[in-house]
Amino acid sequence: MKIMVVGGGGREHAIIKKIKESPLAEVIYALPGNGGIANDAVCVDIGAKDIDGIVKFATENKIDYAIVAPDDPLVLGCVDALNEVGIPCFGPKANAAIIEGSKIFSKNLMKKYGIPTAAYEVFTELDAALEYLKDAPIPTVIKADGLALGKGVVIAMTRDEAIDAVRSMMEDKVFGASGSKIVIEEFLTGPEVSVLSFTDGNVVVPMVSSMDHKRALDNDCGLNTGGMGTIAPNPYYTDDIASVCMEKIFLPTINAMNAEGRTFKGCLYFGLMITPDGPKVIEYNCRFGDPETQVVLPLLDGDLLKIMMACTDGTLADMPVKFLDKSACCVIMASEGYPVKYAKGFPITVDADIEAEVYVAGAKKVGDDMLTDGGRVLGVTAIGDTLADAIDKAYKNVPKVKFDNAFYRHDIGARALKAIK
Ligand code: AMP
Ligand code: GLY
Repeated sequence: MKIMVVGGGGREHAIIKKIKESPLAEVIYALPGNGGIANDAVCVDIGAKDIDGIVKFATENKIDYAIVAPDDPLVLGCVDALNEVGIPCFGPKANAAIIEGSKIFSKNLMKKYGIPTAAYEVFTELDAALEYLKDAPIPTVIKADGLALGKGVVIAMTRDEAIDAVRSMMEDKVFGASGSKIVIEEFLTGPEVSVLSFTDGNVVVPMVSSMDHKRALDNDCGLNTGGMGTIAPNPYYTDDIASVCMEKIFLPTINAMNAEGRTFKGCLYFGLMITPDGPKVIEYNCRFGDPETQVVLPLLDGDLLKIMMACTDGTLADMPVKFLDKSACCVIMASEGYPVKYAKGFPITVDADIEAEVYVAGAKKVGDDMLTDGGRVLGVTAIGDTLADAIDKAYKNVPKVKFDNAFYRHDIGARALKAIK
């Protein structure tokens, strides 16, 4: 089969490495891919948001199956457009991708169907939002309605911070149209768990749980980033919590989307907080997480391509989905200065004796060299029998990847290890 993967980050590299194992995959194209993905797939210089370009390429090259990985093309209707020309896809149609594309949609969905989440108010006018903030409980959480490159959430620890956040979204339009409508919600506390799931719209099959580390610096200091590392499984996600989540969150969400005429097929990502009142939904994503995928898929014990096609066909109930009884740790190596300002163009070398997977996110190939080309450059993932082993192995291998201006967190998985102890 000819497979096309839309996207070009570490998540897509992990997806591609996994589907490469499938005997069904003969050729894999990545649009646009990156300098590291180029070692595992044929990269084609078509951007992930160029829906017309993607459809044209897929038609001309007789693609048999497409995997649309990032949020933007999903929300823009890439799956709808590919289906229209007869190409089956992994990923939700636009009317279901809205579960990530609009926070107001997802909050209203949860309220309507009784799915546990933070209490909230929606605002479309600046004055009303400012009036509400006068005596809203603090801390509070301000969220831009639309996609904002993962930056549209502000945790305001003071009233002034909350006012600033609302003004910058609604008045200064720092996120463009994404912030013209906002959600102000209750501040929740508790450990966070990411659960990615496969769904065909009938059944939902959770993957191994994981934990992201969003802050740039050790001890959860510094700015929010796309994610500086992950571990799986997440020790806070016990069997008891998993069954509560299935009954109160996962199945009700799939059923709610069906009831709304917005059947979700693909990877539905549940961002959860285990609060003192039980697990609650912090966010839904309509896709695999990045860098969660870089620890979840290496633990998948099976044919990812077949599982994906079962999601598309509606036959997921018949498909075994198993995970190794092991742990994984991914340490992201970024460019000094990320997530604000950083230099690019430094050569990357990887020692031949590395005992970890390297998933490349921001790099380009120039001749035989691979040069840094982004904030998050790559992730180093190791697998171990225990979480401690996986962390240890990941950090032993990080120094085997070298580039100028590299920085990474030294405490990925430390909080999870403490929870186990
Ligand atoms: P999101 O982009 O929705 O994942 O939010 C980014 C991060 O903000 C989450 O991973 C949480 O750490 C935090 N967050 C979002 N909503 C809340 C909330 N209601 N209470 C506390 N923290 C939150
Ligand atoms: N790592 C969080 C996300 O992919 O949204």
